[in-house]
Amino acid sequence: MPPKKTFYVTTPIYYVNDVPHIGHAYTTIAVDCIARYKRLKGYDVFFLTGTDEHGQKVEKAARDRRKTPQGHADLMVGNFKNLWKALNITNDAFIRTTDDEHKKIVREMLQKLWDKGEIEKRSYSGMYCTPCERFWTDKDVVNGNCPDCKRPVEHIEEENYFFLMSKYQNRLIEHIEKNPSFILPDMRKNEALGFLKNRTLGDLCISRPKARLAWGIPLPFDENYTTYVWFDALLNYYSATKYLAPPPVPPFIKEGGLWPADHHLIGKDILTTHAVYWPSMLMALGMDLPKNIFAHGWWTVEGQKMSKSRGNVVDPNEIIDKYGIDQFRYFLMREVPFGLDGDFSVHALKGRINGDLANDLGNLLSRTLTMIEKYCDGIIPGRTEPSSLKPLVFNLQSHVDNHMRNLQFHMALLEIWSVVSAANKYIEEAAPWKVYKDGDKTKLNNILYSLAETLRIIAVYIYPFMPSAAEKIWQQLGLKKGFDGIIFDKETEWGQDISGTKVCKGEVLFPKV
Ligand code: ME8
Repeated sequence: MPPKKTFYVTTPIYYVNDVPHIGHAYTTIAVDCIARYKRLKGYDVFFLTGTDEHGQKVEKAARDRRKTPQGHADLMVGNFKNLWKALNITNDAFIRTTDDEHKKIVREMLQKLWDKGEIEKRSYSGMYCTPCERFWTDKDVVNGNCPDCKRPVEHIEEENYFFLMSKYQNRLIEHIEKNPSFILPDMRKNEALGFLKNRTLGDLCISRPKARLAWGIPLPFDENYTTYVWFDALLNYYSATKYLAPPPVPPFIKEGGLWPADHHLIGKDILTTHAVYWPSMLMALGMDLPKNIFAHGWWTVEGQKMSKSRGNVVDPNEIIDKYGIDQFRYFLMREVPFGLDGDFSVHALKGRINGDLANDLGNLLSRTLTMIEKYCDGIIPGRTEPSSLKPLVFNLQSHVDNHMRNLQFHMALLEIWSVVSAANKYIEEAAPWKVYKDGDKTKLNNILYSLAETLRIIAVYIYPFMPSAAEKIWQQLGLKKGFDGIIFDKETEWGQDISGTKVCKGEVLFPKV
């Protein structure tokens, strides 16, 4: 067998200053869906997530909790790891920026940039926003406040090290324009281009004096300074490939291993750091740029911005305890076009569970199995003639593949659900109960085989989104195998020999809420 192609996809690494919420779950679930899908499609997937543990935010959170920054991070990281386990996330690695190997690679990269003359020491005075850990120019500041978080900025005067980012402004514009899928969706590409074209890109201050911020990676060429948290954090995408990824399998893999990444999935809040800082850093290092940065939209909760002070932060653990893991995963991927903003409400969640999941898919399974039990002694009958469901199922392959390639999860689900609806309609139109009464066994067998086969294939399609529900459908159809190691293109082909299998109708797939 030839070696598989690799597929490398990442989430942002999340700050350990607080516990994970629905926003963190969203990006991670989205990456899990694409990672699971690509594995089924035969790729060697490396799915990376992790935590961003240095910097002022984390240092402050640790101080507030009367912990050392490391002790605090060690404690908080468990919240992320446990949540990913609870949500059935299949990350291949979990990076922490406090890993010794990561710190070593960051220092090596900094040294390389310093040696190449890409970093300069300058004295600097400017406006600094502590919560955002960012310098702003006087022009950016709005009435003494940070343009991003709206909190007061301070005037700071100090010597610092600067990465000569301004050099890369034109190359970056050119790269974005020549590679239309480098930044997606288009509105985010335009936003990044607007940012780059409408201003002179400055150089990036990448150090903090140790006296002001001790919690960071010391600069290799001046130990009195620590590294700016974003410079350290962005490099995780590369450093992980060096010590957390399995050794690459030749000959598909270029020198340098898994790099560059196929997708960085992020929220729109961190577009500039990913679309401007990160590619400039890579250009300066002489490295390839990631193939795509996809910045998704923002979740509000019941129409409100999520915030601790409002007390409306949604804890994914509570949602999955109450409504189920697959239900939560489905809701997030189906409710909002990936890229646009969305609103989380219990009402909308319940609507999806009772409608799409219980009424449409759940009912399709239970009606099909009940009829196979009643009319065929619980044994999936053999097929005899073509079915009107077959072409619909056949068409799914190219549609879903296209949508998954473009990370349009809601569209993929919409296509899958069009087949679910067609199958429900098929039951009404074919009326197997009448065919049974009429004694037309051949026709009856064909209808029930078609429904069982459609459900078998739908399970493969929903597996990346709802892995447990997919497993349950296969179990209830009486199929003995699981999804590990299956080949998507083969399993989604119509006409597998499932006849003769004894179905075993189990618990309701999606209980109504
Ligand atoms: O920014 N809606 O970490 P972070 C949608 N450490 N997504 C949301 C969200 C919301 N309301 N809230 C958070 C950092 N997210 C840096 C990243 S990467 C090298 C360093 C998600 O803990 C979304 O993916 O603040 C967003 O980009 C990320 O969490 C921010 O996580």
